[in-house]
Amino acid sequence: MSDHSASPLLQPYTLGDMSLPNRVVMCPLTRSRSSDDGVPPDFAADYYAQRATAGLIISEATNISSQARGYALTPGIWTGAQVESWQRVTRAVHNRGGHMFLQLWHTGRISHPDLQNGALPVAPSAIKPTGQAFTKDGLKDHVTPRALETDEIPAIVEDYRHAAQCAMDAGFDGVEIHSANNYLLEQFIRDSTNHRTDRYGGTIENRLRFPLEVVQAVTGVWGGGSRVGIRISPATTMPGETPLDSSVMETYGTYVDALSAAGLLYLHDIEGVTQLSRDPSGVDFLALRKRFSGAYIANNQYTRKLAEETLAAGKADMFSFGRPFIANPDLVDRMRSGAPLAEAPKEYWYGGGTVGYSDWPGMNGQIRIEP
Ligand SMILES: Cc1cc2nc3c(=O)[nH]c(=O)nc-3n(C[C@H](O)[C@H](O)[C@H](O)COP(=O)(O)O)c2cc1C
Repeated sequence: MSDHSASPLLQPYTLGDMSLPNRVVMCPLTRSRSSDDGVPPDFAADYYAQRATAGLIISEATNISSQARGYALTPGIWTGAQVESWQRVTRAVHNRGGHMFLQLWHTGRISHPDLQNGALPVAPSAIKPTGQAFTKDGLKDHVTPRALETDEIPAIVEDYRHAAQCAMDAGFDGVEIHSANNYLLEQFIRDSTNHRTDRYGGTIENRLRFPLEVVQAVTGVWGGGSRVGIRISPATTMPGETPLDSSVMETYGTYVDALSAAGLLYLHDIEGVTQLSRDPSGVDFLALRKRFSGAYIANNQYTRKLAEETLAAGKADMFSFGRPFIANPDLVDRMRSGAPLAEAPKEYWYGGGTVGYSDWPGMNGQIRIEP
């Protein structure tokens, strides 16, 4: 083991008006342990609080409405019971001195009628994703979604507004708008998934209209952008084997300019194909970062060493770690001491109870959370 406690990655960092103990962010990680009603289990409070030494925790993707659902057993943030359960989580994280944002999610076409009370999933256009949806009865082939009518879109913006308010009521420190990984917002942005001819399709300005209406609704609830971040993934093709936008830098450059003008707190960028590769596929991530006036959180296959090198080069402000947080609740302490990292078998990623979830010990034994 070697001592890395002086690492700049592990020193305090000021994000907007929050003083954070380090620059390490826990990624949003879907773990599929909520009830059919989208209520997180009691032991989610243990799981998140065990990881509260991260500079910032971003919750697993959380459905803004019943229609938003695309995966079985994922949590929601639109009912009173969901808010109450999330309150237990935020209280436990705050009791350990942590900070936590909630990730606002609508899956769009990456869903299945089983998760839509038998109805078709909705999307900008009726284009079928490749692959399978995670339903209660196992994996099922995706279907061709239904294209949203123009006059249905304001109600979805309203769902985002309601969910953003519920996140505030649940005690989160802020919210992250999930505009990544080819879910509804990104389906509107890319010309590969948006073939609309109304004011939400065609030109870049039109394709960005719905995501920017969502940004406006969410920042309206949170009193501006100072507690609102956003996640993008211009180079990822997963899920759905979704082709990239045909003018990716022009489209995302215009988007980032507008996000910057909206005063958002941070841009959380998945550099490459989520989980799979850091191949930029023609995207100049540094150029996007330079167009954004808030903080830049870099993600995808980072190690402590790569994060330190990237920080030293001035190419990012914070770094998010996903898979490493699953089996290492005390990831920050392990980075500090150079302790080896545990690895979680994939069978624990999605579904189940506390096993492989809130029972991973820290390097000095089980991290007990006071109720
Ligand atoms: C089990 C699992 C669940 C994930 N769930 C989400 C999610 O809910 N929202 C999201 O934006 N990304 C999600 N991701 C992607 C991660 O946030 C992250 O971008 C990815 O794992 C790459 O980071 P890493 O190399 O540090 O793991 C998930 C990844 C994994 C492995």
